[in-house]
Amino acid sequence: MHDAFMMLKEDHDRIALLFKQSRASGGTKVNHQIFDQIRSVLDNHTHIEETILYPTCEKHQELKRMALEFNDAHAEVKELMFQITRSARDDANIAPKLRSLMERVEAHIQEEEERLFPLAEKVMRRNELEYMRAEIESARRRLGIWTHGAGPGAMQPYPEED
Ligand SMILES: [Fe+2]
Repeated sequence: MHDAFMMLKEDHDRIALLFKQSRASGGTKVNHQIFDQIRSVLDNHTHIEETILYPTCEKHQELKRMALEFNDAHAEVKELMFQITRSARDDANIAPKLRSLMERVEAHIQEEEERLFPLAEKVMRRNELEYMRAEIESARRRLGIWTHGAGPGAMQPYPEED
């Protein structure tokens, strides 16, 4: 897998790990510390895909429809995220909303890894892949995200939110 997709997959793995922690901590109560991390990782990851991956995909006939479809899925995820963030922290409806958020994101991640990444890697030219790699790396630096290759077990923590 090209480095550009490896970095996106690292984000996915990080998200999966946080979901696992959230479920383990859970029951009916939401662990807000974990939720804050989920929100931060998802915000950064969706931003990178929407500004770098999807626009590059849209230049290709074979990828365009999928990029638009996945962009819509992000909008759904953001809406759920917004609803959860807006609710009071002790709101009993947060837990089910967080569960649907996680399910929605997991389905989206699976589709991206199974359908979009392999096809994009086949269809895109070498220089487009390199362009994406460089852009993702600099976006990560700007956002303070761990560097590629550290692996999900060795990731640096995300900066605390104000
Ligand atoms: Fe993704």
